[in-house]
Amino acid sequence: MGQDGNKMEKALEKKLVKEALEARKRSYAPYSHYQVGAALLTWEGRIYQGGNVENASYGACCCAERNAIFRAVNEGERRFLAIAVAGGMEGEAPREYAFPCGICRQVMKEFADEDFLIFVARSEDDYKSYSLGELLPYGFGGNSII
Ligand code: THU
Repeated sequence: MGQDGNKMEKALEKKLVKEALEARKRSYAPYSHYQVGAALLTWEGRIYQGGNVENASYGACCCAERNAIFRAVNEGERRFLAIAVAGGMEGEAPREYAFPCGICRQVMKEFADEDFLIFVARSEDDYKSYSLGELLPYGFGGNSII
């Protein structure tokens, strides 16, 4: 579970999870029918939502987490505190905790520190938290280029 570094109020955690569940409703997943929503929290307290967006050419699909991060970065945001993620089959509530894929973890690393929090949620009341350091140990980042 999340390390000592970043701490968040319970109410804010829940709000972030709620926004991820909301974002999931606008995911575009006509091929896998697996809908994912993400909500990204900046250090200044702003929240950016993203949903997965699929494509008939499957390689062009983009995950919910990256859509949220890229959206925020393109708005000028650079410092992030946490992300909440919720995924499950279309028309159903999430059955399992949806962990970010490897590419999304790498994208998180570009804009977050080891204490960045990742909430994986099945519902507003059922979620777990991890730090990026836990989910991407020994990751490659800008500081690795020396
Ligand atoms: N997906 C995400 O949105 N986030 C992840 O971390 C893993 C996978 C999406 C991509 C694709 O649209 C669908 O889930 C099935 O892989």
